[in-house]
Amino acid sequence: MKDTLILAIESSCDETAASVVKNGRTILSNVISSQIELHKLYGGVVPEIASRKHIEKVNQVVEEALKNADVTLDDLDAIGVTYGPGLVGALLVGVAEAKAIAYAKKLPLVGVHHIEGHVSANYIEHPDLEPPFLCLIVSGGHTHLVIVKDYGEFEILGRTRDDAAGEAFDKVARAIGLGYPGGPKIDKLSKEGNPEAIVFPRAKIGTCPYDFSFSGVKSAVLNYINQAQMKGEEVNRADLAASFQKAVVDVLVEHTMLAAKDYKMDKIAIAGGVASNGTLRAAMEKACVENGYKFYRPSPIFCTDNAAMIGAAAYYEYMKGTRHGWDLNAVPNLKLGER
Ligand code: KG4
Ligand code: ZN
Repeated sequence: MKDTLILAIESSCDETAASVVKNGRTILSNVISSQIELHKLYGGVVPEIASRKHIEKVNQVVEEALKNADVTLDDLDAIGVTYGPGLVGALLVGVAEAKAIAYAKKLPLVGVHHIEGHVSANYIEHPDLEPPFLCLIVSGGHTHLVIVKDYGEFEILGRTRDDAAGEAFDKVARAIGLGYPGGPKIDKLSKEGNPEAIVFPRAKIGTCPYDFSFSGVKSAVLNYINQAQMKGEEVNRADLAASFQKAVVDVLVEHTMLAAKDYKMDKIAIAGGVASNGTLRAAMEKACVENGYKFYRPSPIFCTDNAAMIGAAAYYEYMKGTRHGWDLNAVPNLKLGER
C-alpha cells in the first residue's frame, strides 16, 4: 500500500510545532519551537505574546519540518492541524497556516482535537498499541480518564472537577518560587525531598470514583506555607514538592487502577505534559506490573506539546474520512470526541 504522509501543525499554547508523519506512526521530523523563555518572565503564558510569536515562527517551523523529513509539499497527502481546545489567537495561527498550505496544494485538511493528539502520542513508539485501551490524560488544561474505544472514539469515565493536574503543579511551583512551567521543576526538586514528610489530602469524590479534584491539595500546600511563615519557620521546599507530587500521583494511579478493574481493561496508557513526570511514570508502571496490565507511555518529548502527536491523530482521522472545509475555525473549548 502507498505510504500516507501528513504534515501536522500545532500552535494551541506556547509551542509552535510542525511534524511530518508517515502512516500515523513513523515520525520523519518533529520540530518544536518553545516560547517558554518569553513567558517565564510573566509566570505563565501570555496569550497575546503567544499569538505574535506563533506568527513569527510558524513558516520557519514548517519549512524545517519538511526539510528534516526530506520531503516537499508535493509529497504530502494531507495537512493536519490542532483547531482546539487552546488559546484562540494561538490556535488561529496554526489553522490559518494549515488552510493556506492545503488550499495552495489542493490537499485535504484534517482538523485535530489537541487531546486526541496527546492520546495518539502513544501510537508513535508502541506499534502494538491499538484500541481499546484505558488512557489517563494529564496536561496543563485537562485531566481525563477515558476509554479509547477506537481511534478518535472516547468514553469519558472521569475528569477533574476543578484544576487540571498540570495546573496544580504550576500553582504549587509558583507558591514555592520555582517559576513557570512548574511541573518539570517540581519533578526535579522532588528527587531531593522526602515524599512522606508532609501528608497532603487525597480528594475522593463520592458520586464519581473516577473524577479528580486538585484544588484541595493545592490549598493545603498554600496553608502549609502560610502557617510556616507565620511561625517564622523555613519551609523545606524539596520535602514539600515531593509530598505534594506524591499526593497527586497517588490519586492519579489509584483512580486509573480502579477504572481498569471495573471496566476490565488490561492496556493502560498515559498522555499529556504531566505524563512526562518521573514519579507518575514509575508509580503507574509499578501498579500495572502488580495488576498484570500492559503499560504504555510516550517518551517525555512526545508527552508535552508537539506536532508529531497531531500527525498521528490526523492520520487516523484522515483514514476514517474526516475532512474539514476552508471555514475551519479555532474552537477554544472544543469537547473531546467532537468533530
Ligand atoms: O500537554 P502540555 O504540554 O500542554 C497542555 O496541553 O496543557 O502540558 C503542560 C503541563 C504544564 O502544566 C506543565 O507544568 C506540566 O504539563 N508538566 C509536568 C512535567 N512536565 C510538564 N508536570 C509534572 N511533571 C513534569 N515532568
Ligand atoms: Zn497539550
